[in-house]
Amino acid sequence: MLGRTHYAAEVNEKIEGETVTVAGWVHRRRDHGGLIFIDLRDRSGLVQVVAEPAQEENFRQLDRVRSEFVVTVEGEVKRRPEGMENRELPSGLVEIEPHRVEVLSEAKTPPFMPQDAESVDEMLRLKYRYIDLRRLGLLNNFILRDRVLMAVRRFFHDHGFLDVETPALARSTPEGARDFLVPSRLQPGTFYALPQSPQIFKQLLMVSGFDRYYQIAKVFRDEDLRADRQPEFTQIDVEMSFMTQDQILDMMESMVHFVFQESMGVTLDPFPRITWHEAMEGYGSDKPDLRAGERLWNLTKVVEAHVSWPILREAPFVGGVVFRDYQPSRKQLDIWTNMAKDLGAGGLIWLVKSPGQTRSSAGKWLSPEEVKELADAVELQDGDVLLLVAGEKYPSLGVLGQLRLEFARREDRLNEGWRFLWVTDFPLFEWSQEENRLVSAHHPFTMPHPSDIDLIETEPLAVRSQAYDVVLNGTELASGSLRIFQPQLQSRIFSTLGLKPEEIEEKFGFLIQAFQYGAPPHGGIAFGLDRMVMLMAGAKSLREVIAFPKTARGVDPLMNSPSSVALAQLEEVGIQIKK
Ligand code: AMO
Repeated sequence: MLGRTHYAAEVNEKIEGETVTVAGWVHRRRDHGGLIFIDLRDRSGLVQVVAEPAQEENFRQLDRVRSEFVVTVEGEVKRRPEGMENRELPSGLVEIEPHRVEVLSEAKTPPFMPQDAESVDEMLRLKYRYIDLRRLGLLNNFILRDRVLMAVRRFFHDHGFLDVETPALARSTPEGARDFLVPSRLQPGTFYALPQSPQIFKQLLMVSGFDRYYQIAKVFRDEDLRADRQPEFTQIDVEMSFMTQDQILDMMESMVHFVFQESMGVTLDPFPRITWHEAMEGYGSDKPDLRAGERLWNLTKVVEAHVSWPILREAPFVGGVVFRDYQPSRKQLDIWTNMAKDLGAGGLIWLVKSPGQTRSSAGKWLSPEEVKELADAVELQDGDVLLLVAGEKYPSLGVLGQLRLEFARREDRLNEGWRFLWVTDFPLFEWSQEENRLVSAHHPFTMPHPSDIDLIETEPLAVRSQAYDVVLNGTELASGSLRIFQPQLQSRIFSTLGLKPEEIEEKFGFLIQAFQYGAPPHGGIAFGLDRMVMLMAGAKSLREVIAFPKTARGVDPLMNSPSSVALAQLEEVGIQIKK
């Protein structure tokens, strides 16, 4: 075999006249004016090879190649004739005149051409993922992913963090999703759980005095899948001892700044820090998209002071979202009204300001003065619209937050850019309607806010936590918290969550015991690496940044997993499948 000397994209006018050997796949083959043109593709891109009939043997070889054959070509780099250049390609000013051609592999006609994959059904693409992955656009995501990982490792290494691996055969930890279970052969009837995160292990490493830990950790969650959720994914998992919350936030923020600078040459602005409460009030979401325009308005007090209509006046909360410079049609206003109802609002009231007047859908019930008070409160200008929702506070804010986002999307008003922020002070507990009980908002190891500790038993839903998220353009990229390191406090949290003393002992006895042998204050965070790369690459789904992803139904059509297994394998682990 001819040894490669150059990648396709390295063949350019600077090496005109030199002899090179390139190797790769036949991207396209054309006959034109008696000549054969081959676009040869490798990881770096394309280069053109041109053979004429006079080069008998080479011509014959190239004449028989078809799309996706694997070839090497040794030849001379020549300038393309004038008018034949392709300025889009790094190799576009030159072509290779072959001296020797080797066909290394033939290829059946593929089920789709890599360059056409985007228009192909996803099941088919995933079944032939190795062809799908030949797409240069897709490959770029993996090049970026590699760069991101290099930068992450460099940052942590340079800041004294140790990369420590933790077990994949572990025990169920409460991150909120279902576990993937692995039956044990040596201990029949028992199961490992694949980790939903290395949470407990990293905390134990802090008890051991490792001080600064990180791991690029593969984790597993059996949950319903979406574009930004895969059953197995990768976390940049971090834990630190003896640091305040602000120190941890500063450290992690500088990691993200470093990674963006190193892998994309992007200089980020400092991340604003807002509390969960401010996020909900301002954006109706715990992961606000700061690209989508101004904050929501709390109009409860204005209504109290100026409005007599009971529907507004008696509502526990009245909020508004303003669409600036919009001038909607009546039909558009109806669309927003219906959307608000679909999202769960009892109704929607609009105000539209135009020169000399402000119209309102509630014009029958609101006097012109009342309309003016509401419009003035949000500084409504000609062409602006105010949409009002009245009702319970958080559901109403949620609806307004969705309208805010949807408006920016539909009207193409999402400003470009990397709008990061920290959201802090999440509630410690949430009420789960499904399970009809208190659950941890982050996880049960999260430290309560020091001034709220007395409320744990009496008013648990009012307890704030020392937990924080990194949000980028409306997506949660990372979550973390300071951790409880006092055994008594940890037990109190478990019992508030409804765990009985025996259960606490059974499930977490080892952790509480570890805390009794000298635990440092510690805290950490985990970034979703796949999500981060997805956003950086401008990709729409995690499947574009994971080499062999699962479908929305949790299936890998290439290997055909999950699959049934031999009866003997089941017997070994003492499992019988129910019909
Ligand atoms: P959390 O459960 O919030 O925190 O996860 C951290 C980050 O992981 C990403 N992520 C996912 N990415 C792809 N597919 C999924 N199914 C998926 N689920 C989560 C998100 C999320 O922000 N142990 C804690 C961290 C800590 O406290 O240190 C944890 O796992 O980007």
